[in-house]
Amino acid sequence: MIVRRYLPLFAAGVLLAAAPLVSSQAQDSAGGQTNVAISNEGEAVYRQICQACHMADARGGGGAGTGIPALADNPNMADKTRMIEVLVNGRGGMPWFTDMLTPQQIAAVLTYVRSNHNAYPEPVTAEEVEAVVASAGGSSVQ
Ligand code: HEC
Repeated sequence: MIVRRYLPLFAAGVLLAAAPLVSSQAQDSAGGQTNVAISNEGEAVYRQICQACHMADARGGGGAGTGIPALADNPNMADKTRMIEVLVNGRGGMPWFTDMLTPQQIAAVLTYVRSNHNAYPEPVTAEEVEAVVASAGGSSVQ
C-alpha cells in the first residue's frame, strides 16, 4: 500500500532528475560529432524545445488563434534557407534560437523535422546555418 501511494511521486522525481541530463547531453555534443549523433540530437532538441509549441506530432498549436503552424506535411519546409532564417532570426511569435542552440543543433532539428515529419530527406548542414547567421549580421551564435 505504501509503495503504491508513493509511486507517482517517485516517477515524478525520476523525470525531474532526467531532464538536466538530457539537456546537458545536447550541449556537450556540439562539436565534431558523426551524422548519426546529430540526427538523434535533432529529435532530442525537438522534444526538449520545439514540441512545447509545435506539439509532439508537429501538427501545431491546434485551437484557433494560437498562430502556431504545423511543421508536419508543411510544404514551406522544402525551402531550407527560409526555415533556417526562422530559427536564426525568429518571426512573429516564433523566438530565435541562436542564443540557445548551436548551428549543429539547429541543422539537426531542421533535418529531423524535414525528414521525419515531411518527405525532404536532404539534411540541413551546420555550414548552411552559419551562412544564414553571417548574412543576418549581428546575431550571435554560440
Ligand atoms: C514559443 C513557441 C515556439 C517554440 C518554442 C518554437 N516555435 Fe516554431 N513557430 C512558432 C510560431 C508562433 C510560428 C509562426 C511564426 C509566424 O509566421 O508568425 C512558428 C514558426 C515556425 C516555422 C516556420 C513554419 C512555416 O511554415 O513557415 C518553423 C520552421 C519552426 N517554427 C520551427 C521550430 C523549431 C525547429 C523549433 C524548435 C527549435 C520551434 N519552432 C520552436 C512558435 C514556436
